[in-house]
This record gives sequence, structure tokens and C-alpha cells, in this order.
Amino acid sequence: MANEIEPELASAEGTPGGAAPREPQSDDAGGRPGAVGAFDVTLRIRRLNPESDSGAYWEEFTVRANRTDRVLDALHTIKWETDGSLTFRRSCAHGICGSDAMRINGKNRLACKVLLKDLDPGKPITVEPIKGLPVVKDLVVDMEPFFASYREVMPFLITGPNAPTSERRQSPEDRARYDDTTKCILCAACTSSCPVFWTDGQYFGPAAIVNAHRFIFDSRDEGGADRLEILNDKEGVWRCRTVFNCTEACPRGIEVTKAIQEVKRAMITRAF
Ligand code: SF4
Ligand code: F3S
Ligand code: FES
Repeated sequence: MANEIEPELASAEGTPGGAAPREPQSDDAGGRPGAVGAFDVTLRIRRLNPESDSGAYWEEFTVRANRTDRVLDALHTIKWETDGSLTFRRSCAHGICGSDAMRINGKNRLACKVLLKDLDPGKPITVEPIKGLPVVKDLVVDMEPFFASYREVMPFLITGPNAPTSERRQSPEDRARYDDTTKCILCAACTSSCPVFWTDGQYFGPAAIVNAHRFIFDSRDEGGADRLEILNDKEGVWRCRTVFNCTEACPRGIEVTKAIQEVKRAMITRAF
């Protein structure tokens, strides 16, 4: 099977947080360090290799897991011990980098944050790529349309030509206005859970609006009016129907829908 696209291999070894492949365990009590019990779990994974498959299909793998294992651990076990062609993205394995968002039992989650024992492992666990973005292979999607929207809202501090001679100061109250939206890790779980984005891939999506919010409400920034103009587009904030899927999906607990509402309000009142 063609095997050119395997982004997770690039980071599986030799990077901070990259765990080495584990040796298969022979005992049934969970021989891995820290094991507190073991069980069999079946992952039902949506597979697609566009170079050789005529369409996507489901494939099941049963692995032995510890109670402390996450979905990402099970994917590693499958890849390292059963099928090296299984393709997924991950880097930090600790909920920081945002690279392993996928649909797990129908909900957008980070594979490194979901414990298998919490998913009713008596039934097969479905694992699919996030929706609304083109599948590159198996669980890897093309994130470029997502990042294109992100770049469009100018997610960086914009200031005038007259730089102050000392630091740009900000009160704790002003800092608190955008604290929530600084937590974004650009995982795309929100945007790819939004039905508006599914039906119309042109919508900026909640993640881009969250990252615009982070700078619009920053008292040191001078680009707020320009960002609001960009988001006033027919594919901008007004496409949001307050569905709240984005808020439910966010692994960082960001109040995404609230941030979108605040941007809408700023657009109407021009107060930000
Ligand atoms: Fe991910 Fe939350 Fe940022 Fe959306 S807002 S990209 S779900 S971290
Ligand atoms: Fe979509 Fe979130 Fe709005 S799910 S419709 S962006 S509230
Ligand atoms: Fe980095 Fe899951 S691998 S967030």
C-alpha cells in the first residue's frame, strides 16, 4: 500500500512528548508501568487511501488496553503492532498542540484527551476524521482551508507607526476581556463541528472568529475595525446560527459561541 503521507511518523520519536513505541505485553493484567487493569477494546476506524481505494471503508481492530490508556494510545498500538499504514496526526500527546482532533463516537475530541475506559469499551469505538475538510488519508485532513480563514482575520497585534518608548501597558481588567480566546490551540474541533461549515465550506468558522476576538478586544491593538470589516462579509459572523456545537466541541473549554456573539455586538455598536 502506498505510504507517502504519514505525518505522525515525523513526530513519533525524538520530539518532546513523543513516546517511543511500546513493546507488546504478554500478561493479561496490564504489564505496562502504571497499569491498573487491562481490557480488550475494538476501534472501528474510517479508512481511506485516495491513491488506492475507490472509497472510504470501516476497519475494526481489537487491542489490549490499560485503564489509563487514551484513544491515541490505542491508535499507536494498532499502528506499531498491527497495521503500519494507519495514518493519523499527533505531536504533543498532552492536549497542547491541537493536531489530533478527530470524531470519536460521533463527537469531535482530541484523541490524546479521551480515556478508552470512559467510552463504554464494551462496544466498538468509532473513530473518523473531522468533518468538512478534505481527507488526505485515513484520519488526516487537509487543514489548509481552515488556516486560510485563520490568516484572513490577521491574528497578530496591529499597532500604529509611533511605537512607545516603554512597554505597552494593559490593566488586568482589559486583559481579562480576551483571556478566554487566548487559550485556542487551533485544533479545528469547533469549526469542523459546525453545521454551517459543513454545508458551506466558505464560512470563516468559529476558530477564525475566536482568533479575531483575541485581538479585537485587546486594548493595545489598532486593527479591530479592519477585522470587523473582514468578518462582516457574507461568509463572516452573520452565518453563525448559534448552534453551540463549537462550544461543546472545544477541548480548551473556550466559550466559543459567546465570543462570536461579542464580535457580532461589536460590529453593531462599533464598541470594542
Ligand atoms: Fe480548537 Fe477551541 Fe480553538 Fe476551536 S476554539 S480551534 S475547538 S481550541
Ligand atoms: Fe456554528 Fe458555533 Fe455558530 S456551531 S452556527 S459557529 S454557534
Ligand atoms: Fe497534541 Fe493531542 S497530540 S493535542
